[in-house]
Amino acid sequence: MILDRLALIQTAREAARRAYVPYSHFPVGAAILTDRGEIITGCNVENASYPLTLCAERTAMATAVAQGAGRVVAIAVSAPKAQPCSPCGACRQVLYEFNPDMEVILDAGDADPLILPLTELLPLGFNHLSLEKA
Ligand code: THU
Repeated sequence: MILDRLALIQTAREAARRAYVPYSHFPVGAAILTDRGEIITGCNVENASYPLTLCAERTAMATAVAQGAGRVVAIAVSAPKAQPCSPCGACRQVLYEFNPDMEVILDAGDADPLILPLTELLPLGFNHLSLEKA
């Protein structure tokens, strides 16, 4: 499977247009690529009860699970107002659950995207292996 990073970023940009952000006015889009070549999108979905807000990355990840998608190999994140927009700590942890080695692609607008393994964004992450040691 060829990882077309620019296409994934483009899909994340389109997803950001569907963000529901009446409070922050800070749209974010995410596009996940699986080992089966599936592309699954997510956007942030805010709520009048602010802490209930769902981030774009977690929306995409939950959708991938709900759809029975394959293993996540990469995620592109795009936020027009912050280029690049780095995933929040909660999203890093949720993504780590499904593949610590996934590639994270951060849209930097006209500049080259930032590309880094999730393990670099979340070193020494906690997952099922940590539980098995207990
Ligand atoms: N947000 C995301 O969707 N992903 C991130 O990684 C950072 C933050 C959203 C949450 C909220 O709707 C808005 O951006 C401002 O924090």
